[in-house]
Amino acid sequence: MSSELLKPFDRVRALRFDQNGLALLDQRILPQSSQWLPMADADAVADAIRALIVRGAPAIGIAAAYALVLTARAIAARPDAERRAEFAAAAARLREARPTAVNLMWAIDRMLGRWGSNPDPALVQAEAEAIDAEDLAANYRMAMTGAEFIVQGSGVLTHCNTGSLATAGLGTALGVIRAAFAQGKLSQVYAGETRPWLQGARLTVWELLQDQIPACLIGDSAGAWLLAQGKVQWVIVGADRICANGDTANKIGTLSLAVAARHFGARFMVVAPTSTVDFGSADGSAIHIEERDPRELTEYAGVRVAAPGVAAWNPVFDVTPASLIDVIVTERGAVERPDAERMQVLW
Ligand code: MRU
Repeated sequence: MSSELLKPFDRVRALRFDQNGLALLDQRILPQSSQWLPMADADAVADAIRALIVRGAPAIGIAAAYALVLTARAIAARPDAERRAEFAAAAARLREARPTAVNLMWAIDRMLGRWGSNPDPALVQAEAEAIDAEDLAANYRMAMTGAEFIVQGSGVLTHCNTGSLATAGLGTALGVIRAAFAQGKLSQVYAGETRPWLQGARLTVWELLQDQIPACLIGDSAGAWLLAQGKVQWVIVGADRICANGDTANKIGTLSLAVAARHFGARFMVVAPTSTVDFGSADGSAIHIEERDPRELTEYAGVRVAAPGVAAWNPVFDVTPASLIDVIVTERGAVERPDAERMQVLW
Protein backbone atom coordinates (compact mmCIF):
# COMPACT_ATOMS: atom_id res chain seq x y z
CA MET A 1 0.00 0.00 0.00
CA SER A 2 1.34 3.42 -0.94
CA SER A 3 1.62 6.02 1.82
CA GLU A 4 -0.17 8.39 -0.61
CA LEU A 5 -3.39 6.56 0.30
CA LEU A 6 -2.96 7.74 3.90
CA LYS A 7 -2.67 11.46 3.13
CA PRO A 8 -6.45 12.08 3.03
CA PHE A 9 -6.54 10.76 6.63
CA ASP A 10 -3.95 13.26 7.84
CA ARG A 11 -5.64 16.64 8.07
CA VAL A 12 -5.30 17.84 11.68
CA ARG A 13 -2.27 19.49 13.29
CA ALA A 14 -1.55 20.01 17.01
CA LEU A 15 0.98 22.78 16.46
CA ARG A 16 2.04 25.35 13.91
CA PHE A 17 5.51 26.85 13.59
CA ASP A 18 5.90 29.58 10.95
CA GLN A 19 7.03 33.20 10.51
CA ASN A 20 4.57 34.19 13.24
CA GLY A 21 6.20 31.85 15.76
CA LEU A 22 4.77 28.83 17.57
CA ALA A 23 1.05 28.29 18.10
CA LEU A 24 -0.69 25.33 19.75
CA LEU A 25 -4.21 24.08 19.10
CA ASP A 26 -5.89 24.15 22.52
CA GLN A 27 -6.77 20.47 23.09
CA ARG A 28 -8.54 21.26 26.37
CA ILE A 29 -11.55 22.67 24.54
CA LEU A 30 -11.74 20.45 21.44
CA PRO A 31 -14.00 19.51 19.76
CA GLN A 32 -16.48 22.13 20.97
CA SER A 33 -14.10 24.95 20.13
CA SER A 34 -11.02 25.20 17.90
CA GLN A 35 -8.60 27.85 19.12
CA TRP A 36 -4.92 28.44 18.33
CA LEU A 37 -2.85 29.87 21.18
CA PRO A 38 0.36 31.78 20.33
CA MET A 39 3.34 30.83 22.53
CA ALA A 40 5.48 33.77 23.67
CA ASP A 41 8.43 31.76 24.98
CA ALA A 42 9.62 28.38 26.24
CA ASP A 43 8.03 28.88 29.65
CA ALA A 44 4.64 29.40 28.01
CA VAL A 45 5.17 26.09 26.17
CA ALA A 46 6.15 24.33 29.42
CA ASP A 47 2.93 25.63 31.00
CA ALA A 48 0.95 24.48 27.94
CA ILE A 49 2.44 20.98 28.17
CA ARG A 50 1.60 20.81 31.88
CA ALA A 51 -1.97 22.02 31.25
CA LEU A 52 -2.48 19.51 28.37
CA ILE A 53 -3.06 22.26 25.82
CA VAL A 54 -0.67 20.10 23.81
CA ARG A 55 -0.46 16.42 24.80
CA GLY A 56 0.53 13.04 23.45
CA ALA A 57 4.11 11.80 23.77
CA PRO A 58 5.52 12.75 20.34
CA ALA A 59 3.63 16.07 20.20
CA ILE A 60 4.99 17.31 23.53
CA GLY A 61 8.53 16.46 22.37
CA ILE A 62 8.02 18.43 19.16
CA ALA A 63 6.47 21.36 21.06
CA ALA A 64 9.47 21.43 23.42
CA ALA A 65 11.87 21.38 20.46
CA TYR A 66 10.18 24.43 18.92
CA ALA A 67 10.07 26.07 22.36
CA LEU A 68 13.87 25.89 22.45
CA VAL A 69 14.01 27.58 19.04
CA LEU A 70 12.17 30.51 20.65
CA THR A 71 14.78 30.50 23.43
CA ALA A 72 17.72 30.30 20.99
CA ARG A 73 16.37 33.30 19.12
CA ALA A 74 15.65 35.35 22.25
CA ILE A 75 19.15 34.90 23.71
CA ALA A 76 21.18 35.01 20.48
CA ALA A 77 22.76 38.41 21.21
CA ARG A 78 23.68 37.69 24.85
CA PRO A 79 27.23 36.94 26.08
CA ASP A 80 28.20 33.28 25.74
CA ALA A 81 28.12 32.30 29.45
CA GLU A 82 24.74 33.96 29.96
CA ARG A 83 23.38 32.29 26.84
CA ARG A 84 24.52 28.86 27.99
CA ALA A 85 22.89 29.28 31.41
CA GLU A 86 19.62 30.55 29.91
CA PHE A 87 19.34 27.77 27.32
CA ALA A 88 20.05 25.08 29.92
CA ALA A 89 17.51 26.61 32.32
CA ALA A 90 14.79 26.76 29.66
CA ALA A 91 15.50 23.12 28.74
CA ALA A 92 15.31 22.08 32.40
CA ARG A 93 11.95 23.82 32.90
CA LEU A 94 10.53 22.10 29.80
CA ARG A 95 11.84 18.73 30.99
CA GLU A 96 9.94 19.13 34.26
CA ALA A 97 6.61 19.84 32.55
CA ARG A 98 5.58 16.15 32.49
CA PRO A 99 7.51 13.12 33.75
CA THR A 100 6.31 9.99 31.92
CA ALA A 101 6.58 10.47 28.14
CA VAL A 102 10.24 9.98 27.28
CA ASN A 103 9.81 11.73 23.91
CA LEU A 104 9.90 15.01 25.83
CA MET A 105 13.33 14.25 27.33
CA TRP A 106 14.54 12.74 24.04
CA ALA A 107 13.65 15.87 22.03
CA ILE A 108 15.15 18.22 24.64
CA ASP A 109 18.40 16.21 24.73
CA ARG A 110 18.59 16.33 20.95
CA MET A 111 18.06 20.12 20.97
CA LEU A 112 20.69 20.56 23.71
CA GLY A 113 23.16 18.59 21.57
CA ARG A 114 22.47 20.69 18.49
CA TRP A 115 22.65 24.00 20.41
CA GLY A 116 25.84 22.89 22.17
CA SER A 117 27.62 22.22 18.90
CA ASN A 118 26.50 25.52 17.34
CA PRO A 119 24.04 27.97 18.95
CA ASP A 120 23.00 29.49 15.61
CA PRO A 121 19.17 29.86 15.86
CA ALA A 122 18.77 28.81 12.22
CA LEU A 123 20.50 25.48 12.93
CA VAL A 124 18.52 25.02 16.13
CA GLN A 125 15.33 25.60 14.12
CA ALA A 126 16.44 23.08 11.49
CA GLU A 127 16.87 20.49 14.26
CA ALA A 128 13.34 21.09 15.58
CA GLU A 129 11.96 20.83 12.06
CA ALA A 130 13.86 17.57 11.57
CA ILE A 131 12.36 16.13 14.78
CA ASP A 132 8.91 17.13 13.51
CA ALA A 133 9.45 15.73 9.98
CA GLU A 134 10.99 12.48 11.24
CA ASP A 135 8.01 11.86 13.51
CA LEU A 136 5.61 12.35 10.61
CA ALA A 137 7.61 9.97 8.41
CA ALA A 138 7.78 7.41 11.25
CA ASN A 139 4.00 7.49 11.60
CA TYR A 140 3.47 6.70 7.91
CA ARG A 141 5.87 3.76 8.13
CA MET A 142 4.31 2.41 11.32
CA ALA A 143 0.81 2.74 9.88
CA MET A 144 1.71 0.44 7.03
CA THR A 145 3.72 -2.00 9.15
CA GLY A 146 1.01 -2.28 11.81
CA ALA A 147 -1.82 -2.70 9.30
CA GLU A 148 -0.13 -5.84 7.94
CA PHE A 149 -1.00 -7.66 11.18
CA ILE A 150 -4.71 -6.99 10.80
CA VAL A 151 -6.88 -9.41 8.88
CA GLN A 152 -10.01 -8.62 6.90
CA GLY A 153 -13.16 -8.04 8.95
CA SER A 154 -11.41 -7.19 12.22
CA GLY A 155 -12.82 -5.11 15.02
CA VAL A 156 -10.32 -2.88 16.81
CA LEU A 157 -10.37 -1.04 20.11
CA THR A 158 -8.14 1.91 20.90
CA HIS A 159 -7.56 3.98 24.00
CA CYS A 160 -6.73 7.65 24.60
CA ASN A 161 -5.78 9.76 21.58
CA THR A 162 -2.83 8.69 19.45
CA GLY A 163 -3.76 10.54 16.27
CA SER A 164 -2.60 13.64 14.46
CA LEU A 165 -3.28 15.65 17.62
CA ALA A 166 -0.79 13.55 19.61
CA THR A 167 2.00 13.50 17.02
CA ALA A 168 3.43 15.41 14.06
CA GLY A 169 0.53 14.01 12.01
CA LEU A 170 -1.43 10.84 11.14
CA GLY A 171 -0.75 9.24 14.51
CA THR A 172 0.71 6.05 15.94
CA ALA A 173 -2.03 3.57 16.92
CA LEU A 174 -4.55 5.74 15.07
CA GLY A 175 -2.25 5.71 12.03
CA VAL A 176 -2.42 1.90 11.98
CA ILE A 177 -6.20 2.06 12.33
CA ARG A 178 -6.37 4.59 9.49
CA ALA A 179 -4.24 2.38 7.24
CA ALA A 180 -6.25 -0.76 8.05
CA PHE A 181 -9.46 1.17 7.34
CA ALA A 182 -8.05 2.46 4.03
CA GLN A 183 -7.33 -1.17 3.12
CA GLY A 184 -10.96 -2.07 3.85
CA LYS A 185 -10.01 -4.45 6.66
CA LEU A 186 -11.96 -3.03 9.59
CA SER A 187 -15.46 -4.05 10.56
CA GLN A 188 -15.61 -1.58 13.46
CA VAL A 189 -13.42 0.85 15.40
CA TYR A 190 -14.17 1.23 19.10
CA ALA A 191 -12.70 4.09 21.15
CA GLY A 192 -12.60 4.17 24.93
CA GLU A 193 -13.67 7.51 26.40
CA THR A 194 -10.45 7.78 28.48
CA ARG A 195 -11.47 9.13 31.86
CA PRO A 196 -10.89 11.61 33.32
CA TRP A 197 -9.67 13.86 30.54
CA LEU A 198 -11.73 12.24 27.76
CA GLN A 199 -9.03 12.13 25.09
CA GLY A 200 -10.97 9.28 23.45
CA ALA A 201 -14.42 10.84 23.57
CA ARG A 202 -13.31 14.34 22.61
CA LEU A 203 -10.25 13.89 20.40
CA THR A 204 -10.03 10.37 18.92
CA VAL A 205 -13.66 10.21 17.93
CA TRP A 206 -13.43 13.73 16.46
CA GLU A 207 -10.43 12.74 14.34
CA LEU A 208 -12.08 9.50 13.15
CA LEU A 209 -15.36 11.15 12.23
CA GLN A 210 -13.54 13.78 10.14
CA ASP A 211 -12.03 10.87 8.20
CA GLN A 212 -15.45 9.23 7.74
CA ILE A 213 -14.20 6.25 9.76
CA PRO A 214 -17.22 4.89 11.63
CA ALA A 215 -16.31 4.99 15.29
CA CYS A 216 -18.16 3.66 18.29
CA LEU A 217 -17.46 5.27 21.65
CA ILE A 218 -17.48 3.09 24.75
CA GLY A 219 -17.12 3.88 28.44
CA ASP A 220 -13.72 2.82 29.78
CA SER A 221 -15.41 0.34 32.06
CA ALA A 222 -17.09 -1.31 29.02
CA GLY A 223 -13.75 -2.46 27.54
CA ALA A 224 -13.60 -5.91 29.12
CA TRP A 225 -17.25 -6.58 28.32
CA LEU A 226 -16.70 -5.56 24.68
CA LEU A 227 -13.73 -7.96 24.46
CA ALA A 228 -15.85 -10.69 26.04
CA GLN A 229 -18.30 -10.36 23.10
CA GLY A 230 -15.53 -11.35 20.67
CA LYS A 231 -16.11 -8.18 18.65
CA VAL A 232 -12.50 -7.03 18.88
CA GLN A 233 -9.55 -8.87 17.37
CA TRP A 234 -6.93 -6.21 18.14
CA VAL A 235 -6.51 -3.66 20.92
CA ILE A 236 -4.19 -1.01 19.43
CA VAL A 237 -2.62 1.65 21.63
CA GLY A 238 0.25 4.14 21.66
CA ALA A 239 2.94 4.54 24.30
CA ASP A 240 4.57 7.17 26.45
CA ARG A 241 7.63 5.12 27.33
CA ILE A 242 8.71 1.64 26.28
CA CYS A 243 11.39 0.04 28.46
CA ALA A 244 14.35 -2.07 27.39
CA ASN A 245 12.34 -5.25 28.09
CA GLY A 246 9.20 -4.04 26.28
CA ASP A 247 7.19 -3.02 29.37
CA THR A 248 5.09 -0.08 28.19
CA ALA A 249 3.68 2.98 29.93
CA ASN A 250 0.57 4.41 28.33
CA LYS A 251 -2.63 6.16 29.35
CA ILE A 252 -4.29 4.87 32.49
CA GLY A 253 -6.69 2.08 31.55
CA THR A 254 -4.33 0.50 29.01
CA LEU A 255 -3.25 -2.22 31.46
CA SER A 256 -6.80 -3.37 32.15
CA LEU A 257 -7.45 -3.61 28.39
CA ALA A 258 -4.29 -5.71 27.95
CA VAL A 259 -5.33 -8.08 30.74
CA ALA A 260 -8.83 -8.41 29.30
CA ALA A 261 -7.52 -8.86 25.74
CA ARG A 262 -5.29 -11.76 26.82
CA HIS A 263 -8.14 -13.33 28.80
CA PHE A 264 -10.61 -13.16 25.92
CA GLY A 265 -8.17 -14.08 23.13
CA ALA A 266 -7.78 -10.69 21.42
CA ARG A 267 -4.34 -9.48 20.42
CA PHE A 268 -2.61 -6.41 21.79
CA MET A 269 -0.50 -4.02 19.66
CA VAL A 270 1.62 -1.07 20.85
CA VAL A 271 2.56 1.47 18.18
CA ALA A 272 5.26 4.05 18.91
CA PRO A 273 8.31 5.61 17.26
CA THR A 274 11.74 4.68 18.60
CA SER A 275 11.85 8.13 20.25
CA THR A 276 9.45 6.52 22.78
CA VAL A 277 11.82 3.62 23.51
CA ASP A 278 13.93 4.20 26.62
CA PHE A 279 16.75 1.68 26.83
CA GLY A 280 17.83 3.49 30.01
CA SER A 281 14.79 2.05 31.83
CA ALA A 282 15.32 -1.69 32.27
CA ASP A 283 11.67 -2.41 33.04
CA GLY A 284 8.42 -0.73 34.01
CA SER A 285 9.40 -0.31 37.66
CA ALA A 286 11.82 2.44 36.54
CA ILE A 287 9.08 4.63 35.04
CA HIS A 288 7.87 7.72 36.85
CA ILE A 289 4.09 7.61 36.54
CA GLU A 290 2.55 11.07 36.54
CA GLU A 291 -0.14 11.72 39.14
CA ARG A 292 -2.32 14.74 38.42
CA ASP A 293 -4.62 16.95 40.45
CA PRO A 294 -7.37 14.86 42.13
CA ARG A 295 -9.83 17.53 41.04
CA GLU A 296 -9.66 15.97 37.54
CA LEU A 297 -11.60 13.13 39.19
CA THR A 298 -13.70 14.92 41.77
CA GLU A 299 -14.88 17.66 39.42
CA TYR A 300 -16.40 17.63 35.97
CA ALA A 301 -15.93 20.77 33.82
CA GLY A 302 -15.10 22.73 36.95
CA VAL A 303 -18.18 21.55 38.86
CA ARG A 304 -17.80 19.31 41.91
CA VAL A 305 -19.37 15.89 41.32
CA ALA A 306 -17.72 13.65 43.96
CA ALA A 307 -19.02 13.61 47.51
CA PRO A 308 -17.45 16.47 49.48
CA GLY A 309 -14.36 15.56 51.48
CA VAL A 310 -13.45 12.36 49.63
CA ALA A 311 -9.79 11.65 48.84
CA ALA A 312 -8.92 10.77 45.22
CA TRP A 313 -5.90 9.17 43.53
CA ASN A 314 -5.27 10.21 39.92
CA PRO A 315 -2.39 8.34 38.23
CA VAL A 316 -2.67 9.19 34.53
CA PHE A 317 -0.55 6.37 33.10
CA ASP A 318 -0.07 2.68 33.85
CA VAL A 319 2.48 0.08 32.81
CA THR A 320 1.54 -2.93 30.71
CA PRO A 321 4.06 -5.76 31.14
CA ALA A 322 5.72 -6.93 27.93
CA SER A 323 4.26 -10.41 28.51
CA LEU A 324 0.79 -9.04 27.67
CA ILE A 325 1.93 -7.35 24.44
CA ASP A 326 1.74 -9.32 21.17
CA VAL A 327 3.63 -6.82 19.06
CA ILE A 328 5.39 -3.47 19.35
CA VAL A 329 5.38 -1.59 16.03
CA THR A 330 8.02 1.08 15.43
CA GLU A 331 9.31 2.85 12.31
CA ARG A 332 12.27 0.45 12.42
CA GLY A 333 10.06 -2.61 12.29
CA ALA A 334 7.87 -4.74 14.53
CA VAL A 335 8.96 -6.69 17.60
CA GLU A 336 6.66 -9.65 18.22
CA ARG A 337 6.37 -11.11 21.74
CA PRO A 338 8.75 -8.41 23.03
CA ASP A 339 11.32 -9.12 25.72
CA ALA A 340 14.75 -7.71 26.55
CA GLU A 341 16.45 -9.81 23.90
CA ARG A 342 14.02 -9.21 21.05
CA MET A 343 13.90 -5.46 21.82
CA GLN A 344 17.61 -5.25 20.99
CA VAL A 345 16.80 -4.98 17.27
CA LEU A 346 15.59 -1.43 17.98
CA TRP A 347 18.78 -0.36 19.73
O1 MRU B 1 -1.99 12.48 28.96
P1 MRU B 1 -1.83 12.39 27.47
O2 MRU B 1 -3.06 12.75 26.71
O3 MRU B 1 -0.61 13.12 26.99
O4 MRU B 1 -1.57 10.83 27.21
C1 MRU B 1 -1.35 10.41 25.90
C2 MRU B 1 -1.20 8.94 25.77
O5 MRU B 1 -1.18 8.21 26.72
C3 MRU B 1 -0.97 8.42 24.39
O6 MRU B 1 -1.48 7.13 24.26
C4 MRU B 1 0.55 8.37 24.14
O7 MRU B 1 1.14 9.60 24.43
C5 MRU B 1 0.85 8.02 22.73
S1 MRU B 1 0.40 9.34 21.62
C6 MRU B 1 0.91 8.91 20.07
